[in-house]
Amino acid sequence: MVTVPARILVVDDERGMREILSTVLGRDGHSVATAADAQEALQCIGSDIFDVVITDLKMPGRLGGMEVVRAVKDIAPDTVVLVLTAYATLEVGIEAVKLGAYDVLTKPFNNDHVVLTVRKALDAKRLTVENLLLKRELKGQASFENLVGTSEVMQKVFTLIRRVAETSSTVLICGESGTGKELVARAIHYNSPRRDRPFVTVNCGAMPEPLLESELFGHMRGSFTGAVANKEGLFEVADGGTLFLDEVAEAPSGIQVKLLRVLQEPEFRRIGGTRTIKVDVRIVAATNKDLTQAVAQGLFREDLYYRLNVIPITMPPLRSHPGDIPLLVQHFLTVFGQKANKPALTVAPAALRALQQHEWRGNVRELENVLERVVALVPGPDITLDDVAQWVQAPSPNGEAKVPTDIPPEGLDLECLIDGIERNLLVRALERSGGVKKEAARLLKLNTRSLRYRLDKYDIKPADGSDSGPEEDEEGD
Ligand SMILES: Nc1ncnc2c1ncn2[C@@H]1O[C@H](COP(=O)(O)OP(=O)(O)OP(=O)(O)O)[C@@H](O)[C@H]1O
Ligand SMILES: [Mg+2]
Repeated sequence: MVTVPARILVVDDERGMREILSTVLGRDGHSVATAADAQEALQCIGSDIFDVVITDLKMPGRLGGMEVVRAVKDIAPDTVVLVLTAYATLEVGIEAVKLGAYDVLTKPFNNDHVVLTVRKALDAKRLTVENLLLKRELKGQASFENLVGTSEVMQKVFTLIRRVAETSSTVLICGESGTGKELVARAIHYNSPRRDRPFVTVNCGAMPEPLLESELFGHMRGSFTGAVANKEGLFEVADGGTLFLDEVAEAPSGIQVKLLRVLQEPEFRRIGGTRTIKVDVRIVAATNKDLTQAVAQGLFREDLYYRLNVIPITMPPLRSHPGDIPLLVQHFLTVFGQKANKPALTVAPAALRALQQHEWRGNVRELENVLERVVALVPGPDITLDDVAQWVQAPSPNGEAKVPTDIPPEGLDLECLIDGIERNLLVRALERSGGVKKEAARLLKLNTRSLRYRLDKYDIKPADGSDSGPEEDEEGD
């Protein structure tokens, strides 16, 4: 039996022929419908969805098998057509192949041969879809290893990815723009048992509702103006794999209802279709909006929120794990250095410090863009403070971030600014105390517990070998 059963339409005016093909293909696990002439076949093709159509070429009536081939290519281009013809009229069969039929079956045929040809046709169809997806995927080579980070927050994300990858549970990834949500979605898919099936992305905010609906669920010809052919939806394309609903907070309300329905029961109909299609798709959704707030404002359905939020993953903003910046810098220098044919680039400590102090509102994406620019523009192998200074907040001569004394017209992010100052002074105090926390705490007039809390918060670790000797005693708080 085949692993993936297909829906097949057999078109032949001879009843015996229809019966044999139905039995043989049914035995191989497929579900088979039949039509006795081209007219009936066209009706079926217009209203139902088939993976394969097998049609006789010579049939009585106004229309013949050639019209069936043409109609399938026009109406349902994703469907594979096989033609049946007597040996004597093989040339006509070849003509049909020119029109787009996949292969010719000559009568009388051998049953096993028919079964194998159908399997081959289905494989070819699957490969076409996978090649298309592969082309899309090659743009962003996906692997878990593309995600860089040794900080505790990132390590927690990695652990979570490994765990959820093994399940088929719905995942909701939240986090500011540029924090790596899409990378996480890919990492989940490519570490899951679904890795050999498609990873399909759809941006829920990128198109108007009717178009998005047809993208997701597909449509039948004539179901709306411009629907000139039947079309598979992305839920069908992603069958067996993962569908990544990006910017899910932007999904129009009508789509939210439909998503809720497929999440409850993984089946749907194409727009204008009558047949229910069942799929096995793992959903990963992402958003940079606060969905609970969107729910409170009535912009996002609460029931959909709960259906999506089965396993939440929150991506931390880069400013909360600046300890990962040196590693990310190294990672991007290797990537862009190779592309620009500039291997072995080095970064001066002052430049690295400026990069670590920048607030990175655009998160890792902003850091990535800055490094791409710097690599392109740097004249030699060494990246200096001068090379990065124009892209990051100007540090003052002693390397500390400038503290504004007034609010600029565009406003400022107070929390971020204070975090930056705090982090910087914590690092300085540790440097000055040679890594001894008790001394660093004294310099900052903090007790050690409070210092430790802050070091954890910013993921600052004293430099190697210089950590505080005996664990300092707690001072009275
Ligand atoms: N931890 C990381 N390690 C390496 N590269 C990363 C990491 N996080 C993000 N990136 C890179 O930063 C860029 C932005 O990541 P991604 O597109 O996944 O962000 P996003 O959270 O989906 O952003 P948006 O909300 O704007 O769509 C990508 O080029 C990605 O490769
Ligand atoms: Mg994204």
